[in-house]
Amino acid sequence: MVEKWGENYFLLGPYFAAKAASEFEPITDWNDSPAGKAAKKLHDSGIDVHYGYWLVTGKPRVLLFDFNSIRTRLEDIKFRLWENHKISTLHSEDLVNQVVLFGECIREFLKVYCADNYKKQEILSQFHEWMASSSLPDLVADDTRMASTFTTHATMLGRYLAQNVQGFYSKLPFFDWQQEAKNFGIEAQAGIERKAAQSAQVLTTVSDVTARECEVFLGRKPDLVTPNGLNVQRFQADHEFHNLHVKYKEKIHEFVMGHFFQNYSFDLDKTLYFFTSGRFEFSNKGYDLTLEAMARLNWKMVQANMDTTVVLFIVTKQPYHSINPDVLQSRAMLEEIHQTCTAIEKQVGERLFLSAASGDDNHLPDLNQFVDEYWRLRLRRTIQTWKTPRKPAFVTHDLVNRDDIVDYCEKAGLTNNEQDRVKIVYHPDFITYTNPLFGLDYGQFVRGCHLGVFPSYYEPWGYTPLECVVRGVPTVTSDLSGFGDYIMQIMRDFENRGIYVINRKSQTFSEAAEQMANILFRFVRMTRRERISQRNRVENIADVFDWNSLRSYYDTAHDLAARRKKPGA
Ligand code: UDP
Ligand code: G6P
Repeated sequence: MVEKWGENYFLLGPYFAAKAASEFEPITDWNDSPAGKAAKKLHDSGIDVHYGYWLVTGKPRVLLFDFNSIRTRLEDIKFRLWENHKISTLHSEDLVNQVVLFGECIREFLKVYCADNYKKQEILSQFHEWMASSSLPDLVADDTRMASTFTTHATMLGRYLAQNVQGFYSKLPFFDWQQEAKNFGIEAQAGIERKAAQSAQVLTTVSDVTARECEVFLGRKPDLVTPNGLNVQRFQADHEFHNLHVKYKEKIHEFVMGHFFQNYSFDLDKTLYFFTSGRFEFSNKGYDLTLEAMARLNWKMVQANMDTTVVLFIVTKQPYHSINPDVLQSRAMLEEIHQTCTAIEKQVGERLFLSAASGDDNHLPDLNQFVDEYWRLRLRRTIQTWKTPRKPAFVTHDLVNRDDIVDYCEKAGLTNNEQDRVKIVYHPDFITYTNPLFGLDYGQFVRGCHLGVFPSYYEPWGYTPLECVVRGVPTVTSDLSGFGDYIMQIMRDFENRGIYVINRKSQTFSEAAEQMANILFRFVRMTRRERISQRNRVENIADVFDWNSLRSYYDTAHDLAARRKKPGA
């Protein structure tokens, strides 16, 4: 966007000091762009606004509004929302108040900006999500001189209902949005979303899957689907991304050794790392289906007497007290063993060199004699204290409450028994570089794995499988996810390219689990050479999802909005 619009492109957002400290760079000369000039006027009128660059790729200009500076006006704004649009914000959570205040800052700003600039340029506004759009209906009603596009990345009601109502998709056409919003206590959120969708000149959403929800919950069919992309960074040569896979896989190996080998071991060269990740929405994110398919895969692998091991990482966010102390302790002791081995290696190396240089014997001497009694004892003792008859935990943290993942693993017997071919590592926290268990950031962790599994039941788009593809990691998705739906529309040989789409639309849970288990079973029998060439085919399609290709959908939406804007407005 910055490439296309230059200084005329800018973003509007809420100001949070802690976030701004690391991602925002103030601009001192507010006269450097039309946005800065309008921001100055707003600032002088008493709204606390910050003007600068957002430190992401492209470094766009951004205006951040401290909505608390207009808190005293809250009740008036809420009253106006009710008066003009029958959107009730009474008794809603404070998040809604923040949204309403932020919306008002945007409205005040756009009024000033449009009045100052409409004669000089076409003004296009792009609203994302209900949280940015509480004042969009008023802006349109007041004939503000701009063309507006509203993009919803999901629907509020869809998220709630898919999670709570069995057979959501077959019931979809029959839901009464108002009644359901009341049932879930989200009248304000759903009301703002619906009104924004109906007011904007153009409505878009991220996938055909969500487009169907828009018709029912927002009362308007989207004009266009605007699929999600990424800033794809490709390497000059293919081997570079392969090397990264090996590098980060080594890190995961370290964790796995520390976690499992304390009790029993398996061949790391014949170990495959699968992972699923995302918010804790047990059935929406398809964690239930993943676990069912893994249980079936385990059975198939045991039956086939395979010596391959699969470790499934489940990465999500749930409340926990701390990392399980045993898991941490084991990790620390493995490090101790590692250090002892390094010390022995050094001693042997130095003494062997001395002996070789001074001796006349061409035979390799007995290396054992080069190791001090002290180091031998220390190594033996550390290994002895480390080894334990306790089964490796399948949850890495002490959870505040048992949850559906724990229940399902126990029910399905996926509890890291030695004979099982499928092992589970449930990590109820997102992965960050500072995390002591992996020492990897999320993107690196993805690269180190062999397969991402995301057979979602409700997923308006779903970035997680896409993030695998651009890193050359094959992935499982579902035809109910926006991404899966899109890939089926644009590519015929997606499976050959390492994107496996599970049919959840017309299959039962059990049929889908069987389909997925069969896919996984085929995957675990691939040779290393086959995996390498599959990774190449996956990585090869990364460019399809680069914003450089996908921006055009947004350009089309904005052109359409400009054409639909009232003449003279
Ligand atoms: N994610 C992350 N760290 C983790 C796990 C997930 O940053 O440890 C991110 C992931 O990169 C992705 C996002 O969480 O961008 C989830 O987005 P998605 O579209 O898959 O699901 P949503 O949250 O929108 O339902
Ligand atoms: C990359 C490397 C190879 C390595 C392979 C391991 O492709 O370039 O040298 O053998 O990864 O693949 P695997 O699927 O077994 O982790």
